[in-house]
Amino acid sequence: MQMLIFSTKAYERRPLIDANARHRHELHFLEEHLTARTAALADGFETVCAFVNDELNETVLGRLSGGGTRLIALRSAGFNHVDLAAARSLGITVARVPAYSPHAVAEHAVALVLALNRKIHRAYNRVREGNFALDGLLGFDLNGKTVGVVGTGHIGDVFAQIMAGFGCRVIAFDPASDAAKPYASYVSWDELLGESDVISLHCPLLPETRHMIDSAALDEMKPGVILINTSRGALVDTPAVVEALKAGRVGSLGLDVYEEEAGLFFEDLSNSVITDDTFSRLLTFPNVIITGHQGFFTREALANIAETTLCNVSAFETGKGTLFEVPLPRLA
Ligand code: NAI
Repeated sequence: MQMLIFSTKAYERRPLIDANARHRHELHFLEEHLTARTAALADGFETVCAFVNDELNETVLGRLSGGGTRLIALRSAGFNHVDLAAARSLGITVARVPAYSPHAVAEHAVALVLALNRKIHRAYNRVREGNFALDGLLGFDLNGKTVGVVGTGHIGDVFAQIMAGFGCRVIAFDPASDAAKPYASYVSWDELLGESDVISLHCPLLPETRHMIDSAALDEMKPGVILINTSRGALVDTPAVVEALKAGRVGSLGLDVYEEEAGLFFEDLSNSVITDDTFSRLLTFPNVIITGHQGFFTREALANIAETTLCNVSAFETGKGTLFEVPLPRLA
């Protein structure tokens, strides 16, 4: 099939070209994001391939449908950026990559915990300037501490196992699970907030999870908690976290995602002025580390994303094999 692939970076093309040796689709790469302005570029393409910061709202989907698009192949697990009701009414199938490497994201979340706790980002800069003083670099043993995992799907489960390996007591909250595991026990939302020394978010962005970390949730947390979000930015009410950081209630914050990341992440803006004041404020804290949505960014994950994306397109075309279709809501 002819595929138009939006928002592609050089590092994604090689894995897609390599995987396509087995599928033989016609790949057309675009660096542009998919927006209402660029949707017309997909005229005549039955398959459009999109990433996390592409726009797939009703207007864009309507334009794509008018141009003949029948399949949206997401190169991501998350699909919160797709208007699924609009896709359903336009007869567009939406496919995704449900799990490409839970280890990639879970290990990145652990990297943020370790770096924040032992102040690796500050130590790195100090040593390079010949400053070997230890003041301000004090951390704590993770061994024996309580780690709260919010969402124990593919990624949260791996994160829980790694933290259990450090000798942590792992507690978890997930409305879909409550059977204890050898490395984690399930608790209520309030218990997780009140007992955890480290909290890591691994649930999807849904209407009911938007701003689940708000000022009320922050007030319930242990003073000095390490808060990690590698899932979706809007799980966290960022201005509320800024206030909690200023008040010293949140000990450290590690983010790989940000609610307003669409105009920032994946681009080199080093010659531009960042106009998002909340984001800029976050960058001023010594106890905040932000990475630009790189949790998925391992060789293994890129290869798996490419393979599953092309398998989805092949399954859609031939009706054979597994199509990881995003369930669309029923028509009213
Ligand atoms: P998954 O679908 O395997 O697991 C999500 C879990 O969250 C499920 O067990 C679900 O029951 C649970 N959940 C749903 N609502 C909840 C709530 N209100 N409270 C607590 N748990 C809840 O998803 P997976 O693969 O583990 O991915 C998790 C998230 O990680 C994705 O939704 C995506 O947003 C994010 N992600 C981030 C990446 C990055 O590069 N930073 C890459 C891939 C995914």
